[in-house]
Amino acid sequence: MTVDLRGVTVRFGDRVALDDVDLTVGAGERVAVIGPSGAGKSTLVRLLNGTAPATGGAVRVLGSDLAGATPRARRAVQRRIGTVHQQFHLVGELRVVHNVNAGRLGEWSAWRALTSLVAPRDVPAARAALDRVGLADRLDQRTSTLSGGEQQRVAIARVLVQRPALVLADEPVASLDPARAAEIVDLLHEVVTDTGATLLASLHDVDLARRGFDRVLGLREGRVRFDVAPGRLTAAMTDALYELTPR
Ligand SMILES: Nc1ncnc2c1ncn2[C@@H]1O[C@H](COP(=O)(O)OP(=O)(O)OP(=O)(O)O)[C@@H](O)[C@H]1O
Ligand SMILES: [Mg+2]
Repeated sequence: MTVDLRGVTVRFGDRVALDDVDLTVGAGERVAVIGPSGAGKSTLVRLLNGTAPATGGAVRVLGSDLAGATPRARRAVQRRIGTVHQQFHLVGELRVVHNVNAGRLGEWSAWRALTSLVAPRDVPAARAALDRVGLADRLDQRTSTLSGGEQQRVAIARVLVQRPALVLADEPVASLDPARAAEIVDLLHEVVTDTGATLLASLHDVDLARRGFDRVLGLREGRVRFDVAPGRLTAAMTDALYELTPR
């Protein structure tokens, strides 16, 4: 099992971001997570990549108890998890090759990582990853000069060089136009098909959540409201998920 959550709660002060969540995701499965703003989508992604600790319940990711693991064991698990963010999290001033190689930092020594900023290491791997995302010719371009869609491709290339077992994406297409958004979602599916990785992506757009995913998980107020195959997702379910609470 790639993800196994039992009764997981994440609290920030007195705010409950995830409330008694049970979730299992098998190896190679593709799960889309939808829900209104504040539902807990980003918190779920952060819980799974170990950057937001659970305040209750049991969390197993890639066979390891993230909370109970030693820092070293936790880092070993985190190296196998690649995260794609809405705002790309790239260093705009650096050339594309360095941003792609940032996916290797967990595996490289500090010295190797530092010297790599002067003379890029393992350029062939970076080039292959960029080729996979359709940007082979952009290796030496300053990252900030790429379009939003291209920058998200660089972020996916960075995840690719990491060779992750679990790919997490937190609203990876929220800042892109609809055509670019669909392309990036398709690319995420291609990448996990290539690598055999499991995919969990939070998305704003219900239509995108149907696109190539095995399951659509509806989150609202920190709770799982449904977890269904895309073909079983009805308008009534999504309406109820996004419905404004009367005040
Ligand atoms: N670091 C934090 N400190 C305090 N509260 C937080 C923190 N992170 C999240 N929260 C709260 O937890 C709840 C869930 O937030 P989260 O960011 O997971 O929602 P989301 O579904 O990703 O929303 P959006 O669609 O707006 O990105 C919100 O009420 C939010 O204010
Ligand atoms: Mg969010």
